[in-house]
Amino acid sequence: MNCKITTIPGDGIGPDIVREGCRALDAIGKKFGHGFEYTEVKAGGCAIDATGEPLPKESLEACVASDAVLLGAVGGPKWDTLPGAKRPEKALLGLRAGMKVYANLRPALMFPQLSAACPLKPEIVKDGLDILIVRELTGGIYFGDRGRNAAGDAAWDTEAYSRPEIERVVKIGFESAMKRQKRLCVVDKANILETSRLWREVAESMKGKWPEVELSYMYVDNAAMQLVRNPGQFDVIVTSNMFGDILSDEASQITGSIGMLASASLGDSGPGLYEPIHGSAPDIAGKDLANPLATILTCAMLLRFSFGLSREADAIEKAVSKVLDAGWRTGDIAGSAADRAALGDRLVGTRKMGDLVIAAIEAL
Ligand code: IPM
Ligand code: MG
Repeated sequence: MNCKITTIPGDGIGPDIVREGCRALDAIGKKFGHGFEYTEVKAGGCAIDATGEPLPKESLEACVASDAVLLGAVGGPKWDTLPGAKRPEKALLGLRAGMKVYANLRPALMFPQLSAACPLKPEIVKDGLDILIVRELTGGIYFGDRGRNAAGDAAWDTEAYSRPEIERVVKIGFESAMKRQKRLCVVDKANILETSRLWREVAESMKGKWPEVELSYMYVDNAAMQLVRNPGQFDVIVTSNMFGDILSDEASQITGSIGMLASASLGDSGPGLYEPIHGSAPDIAGKDLANPLATILTCAMLLRFSFGLSREADAIEKAVSKVLDAGWRTGDIAGSAADRAALGDRLVGTRKMGDLVIAAIEAL
């Protein structure tokens, strides 16, 4: 198979980790006989520096014209003082809307090899931690009407959802649940918000199509609490853009594996947008310190969802697992100072970690 991938290394550690993701893909290509062709474009802070725009028109066009998009990270303190519409984060919103990727899949997975880093008590996560958050990504308060009054001393942001917008993302929730533990929880604030009441109505009207899925509802404040109290009760969560933003940060943090988590944003047709969950970590950019595993695992999602290459995706995940089993760690997953010292030369940098995964792919 020949795959056209647009890469957006972006800012901070983005270029370091996207490079390793592409190297892992190339190792997969070599082993399984696929060709990956990359087109690199700019978005985020580096695009602001080069063109004045966070998402130049040509960048979005290249993304839409490709089979899949791999994004590293955007943003950094250098651009933090710019006004809203000119900030690097605007590139993310522009990409999501421009590529029409309305369903954001954020798995929060605890790697058993890294369970010591989980901040929850061992008895709470004794059965592991594996939750999929499906976040609506192109609607809600992120894209609703906002503004200020003439005096500038009052402001508003609007949460709005239409039935079709809810239906298409809840459908992804049901379909994802069918591939997992068959439990779907709609997280909302239906005791207050009219949009949430519509979410419930829509989910109710759809559930007949997936009779095997156990459907439940939970208020978002309770869900935030339940995630730390008893995360094992969740299988798939489907929720609005803003609630999904908040809960996915919480969920990723309780895995203790934030440097390991991948995400995929999908639409009905057209390319998917794939990015690691973590940020641009400008303090360690270009220093060969970043953990490339989240991006490499993001490439597994890319293979699975955009190209249907599940054997190849499994191979990446197996290779990463083997590298962890053998005790190799980057700084972020190395544990305490004593753990780090004990690691010796198994404490490695970005490129070496990439090399190890490639060697593990080749050895599978
Ligand atoms: C995320 C981020 C973005 C969001 C920001 C950077 C705009 O927090 O991808 O979760 O809020 O969607
Ligand atoms: Mg976020």
